[in-house]
Amino acid sequence: MSIIAERMAAIKPSPTIAVSNLARELKAAGRDVIGLGAGEPDFDTPDNVKAAAIAAIHAGQTKYTAVDGTPELKAAVVAKFARENGLAYRPEQISVGAGGKQIIYNALMATLDPGDEVIVPAPYWVSYPDMTLLAGGTPVAVRCPEQAGFKMQPEDLEEAITPRTKWLILNSPNNPTGAAYTASELKRLTDVLLRHEQVWLLSDDIYEHLVYDGFEFVTPAALEPRLKDRCLTMNGVAKAYAMTGWRIGYGGGPTELIRAMAKIQSQSTTNPCSISQAAAVEALNGPQDFIAPRAAIFKERRDLVVDLLNQAPGIRCHRPEGAFYVYPSCAGVIGRRTPDGTELADSEGFARYLLEAEGVAAVHGAAFGLDPYLRISYATATELLEEACRRIIRACEALR
Ligand SMILES: Cc1ncc(COP(=O)(O)O)c(C=O)c1O
Repeated sequence: MSIIAERMAAIKPSPTIAVSNLARELKAAGRDVIGLGAGEPDFDTPDNVKAAAIAAIHAGQTKYTAVDGTPELKAAVVAKFARENGLAYRPEQISVGAGGKQIIYNALMATLDPGDEVIVPAPYWVSYPDMTLLAGGTPVAVRCPEQAGFKMQPEDLEEAITPRTKWLILNSPNNPTGAAYTASELKRLTDVLLRHEQVWLLSDDIYEHLVYDGFEFVTPAALEPRLKDRCLTMNGVAKAYAMTGWRIGYGGGPTELIRAMAKIQSQSTTNPCSISQAAAVEALNGPQDFIAPRAAIFKERRDLVVDLLNQAPGIRCHRPEGAFYVYPSCAGVIGRRTPDGTELADSEGFARYLLEAEGVAAVHGAAFGLDPYLRISYATATELLEEACRRIIRACEALR
């Protein structure tokens, strides 16, 4: 009998982390590799945030804290939701975890019974289906094709809902496509949810601040207050404040849900790191003026990458509204042959070819549930991005 539990058979390790690790290993072995797999800003954590963490250490904030967040951090999150999203939460409606990831995990663990369904628009962030499976639920992927801007259509949502549907997970701006929902697109989805009282909405807003061309971000609980009582609004400091390693994410939602999530956290990780919490207080309460210039740099990189990728024969790249990803179609290279005669059967084969031939690491679309595509993260220095795109063009030109 194996020591490994049966439920492990259903889940896979994160493929995006696997690509980043592979790129790191190849680099360490001396290969010239440009990693386009990572989902983290290449900018540094702001100095005021670092200083707050150092001050917290010196002030002895090195002990256990309240399970789901210090009073100071909960107050900062309450203020953030009010200031930036027009959402009124009380501190007991806030949960802080070790990353947005833990917030989602806690929420699914706290709510899913065997057979409960979670609707995930595809392409999806890789962790939603696997976390659902770990929690005993059933992920229901709904295709959101490129022609629909990779966005879920209300009729598809309506069709996917069953009496067992417990959650819809919406992620705007989206990982892996960068697609973001306008208020009117979102309203058509919340109208569907209003008709189905058993369905809750988990809104993953982690890329909120990375929107371009004047796009206006809106979160569903603010847009449709009638849904707020069955909405978990999730966010974190990782992407906006370049704090991926600090591991702080948070959510706002009904007290009953927040309490159940805290129970799970109390029996697993206890509290998020005390020092990181102090740093997150400074991130949320301190100056916000670096966010817009950083977003402007991401916008320039998006345009550079989209323009260059569209020069690669066989690649077609849309221009998304936000986040730091593009999701180009590689349908035009499937079935073609590499210089050594290998036929490219799918996006995974194409990603392998790019890595082997040109040292460019990107993630194949199958991992995100809509293929044949590649996910390319442009959270990398502009010169490297330019070089990576030139290598992709060269690799595509070499196909027969
Ligand atoms: C869509 C999405 N949600 C949530 C997260 C989790 O962020 P973290 O756990 O680092 O706060 C990520 C990270 O890549 C993400 O892409």
